[in-house]
Amino acid sequence: MWVEQLDENIKIEEGEKENFEELYEIIEESREKEDSVIKVLHEAQKIFGYLPRKVQIYIARTLDIPFPEIYGVVSFYSLFTMKPRGEYTIEVCMGTACYVKGAEDVLNELKRELEIEPGEVTEDGKFTIETTRCIGACSLAPVISINGDVKGNVSSVEIKEIIADYSESEE
Ligand code: FES
Repeated sequence: MWVEQLDENIKIEEGEKENFEELYEIIEESREKEDSVIKVLHEAQKIFGYLPRKVQIYIARTLDIPFPEIYGVVSFYSLFTMKPRGEYTIEVCMGTACYVKGAEDVLNELKRELEIEPGEVTEDGKFTIETTRCIGACSLAPVISINGDVKGNVSSVEIKEIIADYSESEE
């Protein structure tokens, strides 16, 4: 049962019950399969939006794997995050090609407009900024990616408009 793993280390907040039930089913389906830890963590991040400590503990217990092993995987892969994210994650490529073409200006403008630093979430929960290494679109440098949607040849003067577009749109 999905509740068997719960104790004072895993306190369920209001509205999280369904999330843990769903996670439990995913873990049961993935058990014994190759790369099950990565797959489970990936799905857990989709369900919760990020991987807080209690979710990692829950996965460790249900898969019967030591917690440090799960934590190690989460810390190692940059696609996993332990902090909550906004509805839209704006990744700014800081790879060499993008850097040379002004990625830092783009990043500074984003920080100024959204009033957050990389890794933080705006007060309204809409945006998170992240920096990333080359995302393989160097010919379009400088590049940003918004929830995986890549935008090339971005200039800092466009940032305000881009943010406004996403602020108005509903996912
Ligand atoms: S350096 Fe930015 S996409 Fe390659």
